[in-house]
Amino acid sequence: MKSFKILTFGCQMNEHDSEKLAGILKAEGYRESERLEDAGLVLLNTCSIREKAEQKFYSALGKLRELKEQNPSMKIAVSGCIAQQEGNSVLKRAPYVDVLFGNQNIGRLPSLLEDSGQPASTEFPEGYEHAVISASRENAVTSFVNIMYGCDNFCTYCVVPFVRGRERSRRPGDIVREIEELVKSGCREVTLLGQNVNSYGPVDRHQGAGHDDAGRPVSGASEDICNFPELLKEINTIGGLCRIRFVTSHPKDLSDSLIDAMANLPKVCNAIHLPLQSASDSVLGCMNRKYTFADYMEKLNRLKASVPDLAVSTDIIAGFPGETEDDFRATLEAIEDIRYDGIFAFKYSRRPMTAALKLPGHLPEKVKDERLYKVLEVQDKIMQEKIGARVGLVEEVLVEGPDKLSRGAIHCARRLAGKTRQGKIVNFEGPPELVGQLVQIKITEGKKHSLIGVLI
Ligand code: SAH
Ligand code: SF4
Ligand code: F3S
Repeated sequence: MKSFKILTFGCQMNEHDSEKLAGILKAEGYRESERLEDAGLVLLNTCSIREKAEQKFYSALGKLRELKEQNPSMKIAVSGCIAQQEGNSVLKRAPYVDVLFGNQNIGRLPSLLEDSGQPASTEFPEGYEHAVISASRENAVTSFVNIMYGCDNFCTYCVVPFVRGRERSRRPGDIVREIEELVKSGCREVTLLGQNVNSYGPVDRHQGAGHDDAGRPVSGASEDICNFPELLKEINTIGGLCRIRFVTSHPKDLSDSLIDAMANLPKVCNAIHLPLQSASDSVLGCMNRKYTFADYMEKLNRLKASVPDLAVSTDIIAGFPGETEDDFRATLEAIEDIRYDGIFAFKYSRRPMTAALKLPGHLPEKVKDERLYKVLEVQDKIMQEKIGARVGLVEEVLVEGPDKLSRGAIHCARRLAGKTRQGKIVNFEGPPELVGQLVQIKITEGKKHSLIGVLI
């Protein structure tokens, strides 16, 4: 029987694309192998957001080359953002790669596998956002659902607009139908995915289609156009669904109506990922983020005032070109004031095609490393305090499955894992029948990145 193994790098968007790729391969009669060595097809779904991600890909590719030398019938496929960005140059550098395709060409995988040796497929076909590709999801209880693709923001450091193309929103009806189907097969929580979910909107805004003179939608336009808060309102009505999360929110597009939706829709969780990147207005300006630190704080404070017990996480870039000691200090102070529940911090990394390459004031690696280290050090302490503050509380937990240690042994597992509404991981003892249910857990202990509790 044909077999495959997918190695995924990068963000949730890529994780979900890997679920779609697995869905396609299973429908073609492939089975998923546990071990890389046993797979007839190894697919690398790549990320190019930072240099490190690219290095990881090339080192994985090097290892696969050795495996292929021992087993020449093994096929190697490369997809994702490096494939999209570098196309044929990956094939030149690594001629042992059999198939290479970009983010919008996922659906072509079966035909590419039949006839490997073709050049890179990296075009952006029309209507990709409406293609229905059944994903093979790892977890039945919580699922990723794309609501939009691409990004129009062109932050000066970022490759995403180049590798994922222009912003395109899926039709609300398609999204709702997908979630209804997921709920039928046991899903209780969805995470809506988009690079900038706050600008989810009329399909015709992105496609240049629109309405005829009588106001009727013309071809290509959405059947019932809505914005992101309205979409949340619709998803909130789906029976059997318990929770709704979403990533990522761009601060510039966080509207009052989204704040209202988060405050009033019972299924929308009290958690938001709101990337700050830097607290210095001059750095934010050079990043093309289109908000000031004061704008960010004003929105965040309104959000916190409206949504009780809100968990906030963020992304920070340390050592952006031109970042002075004062700029960096402002960011550290903001982190101390805001007290995030989680931070993804990165040192600035030069990326091909991005405008920041040409900015003056690129900093030495050593300075970037030191600044990153400081961010992580400050945040570690805050996170420990925030986790510790949950001890003693009773939290609603959606049970997702056995905890990491008992995975693969569901029938005898007594250790379960789930998440609180804030999105914090909780481990506790309980029977496997609880998977998929909402339970009340008394938190007894805080670990580094998770909580321990007892079922009540
Ligand atoms: N669309 C999301 C996520 C984009 S990528 C958003 O706008 O927030 C995730 C994070 O990677 C970004 O928020 C940024 O902090 C970081 N990142 C992107 N490009 C980078 C680069 N060239 N160097 C360092 N960090 C980068
Ligand atoms: Fe990249 Fe900015 Fe778009 Fe996020 S909003 S994906 S950081 S360009
Ligand atoms: Fe995601 Fe990396 Fe592509 S962060 S969008 S997989 S560049």
